[in-house]
Amino acid sequence: MKLSWAISALSAVVCTTACMVLFGQHALWTKQSGDDEEQRLKYETFNATFQEKLFVKNTVQNQLDQQRKYLKEMEGEREKADLEQQQKAAELSDCKANKKKMEREFADTETEVANVKNNLSKMRAAWAEHIATLKRDHMQPSPICAFIKKDTVGARLCGPEAAVVAAPAAAA
Ligand SMILES: *[C@@H]1O[C@H](CO)[C@@H](O)[C@H](O)[C@H]1NC(C)=O
Ligand SMILES: *[C@@H]1O[C@H](CO)[C@@H](O)[C@H](O)[C@H]1NC(C)=O
Repeated sequence: MKLSWAISALSAVVCTTACMVLFGQHALWTKQSGDDEEQRLKYETFNATFQEKLFVKNTVQNQLDQQRKYLKEMEGEREKADLEQQQKAAELSDCKANKKKMEREFADTETEVANVKNNLSKMRAAWAEHIATLKRDHMQPSPICAFIKKDTVGARLCGPEAAVVAAPAAAA
């Protein structure tokens, strides 16, 4: 009875000790795994935040790149438009200068045409006068005809009127 009590007591002590050791180990393991879990969670949170920031940074970077590209394109377009504008302005001023030149030339041509017309009418008048003079001179035989015998080559040159006109002169 005494021995069995002693064994019981001993086994109770052993059991208790074992239980305490086991419990302690369990507690340690739980704490350890709790720490691991905590570390993992911390890391995941950090990773998630980091990934999110990376994503935002990449997105912003992409948008910035696109904006920059767009701006560059716009700048190119603007320069092209400016160049076209300048070319158009130059063409317009060329066109205006050309128009003015043509107007001047047209005015010059009109003046020249007027001059030619004026000259022509002057020449016509001069020729008319000249022809009239020639006719008058031709109608009035030269005084020499009065001294030319009839039926000669000279008398024929003096014309038929010469004989008529010359006759009184010869008689005189
Ligand atoms: C961090 O997170 C990303 C996306 O959530 C995942 O793809 C990557 O594997 C993680 N990195 C680590 C080392 O766990
Ligand atoms: C008109 O005549 C003047 C002189 O009579 C001459 O100087 C001028 O060149 C002439 N003009 C034309 C267009 O023939």
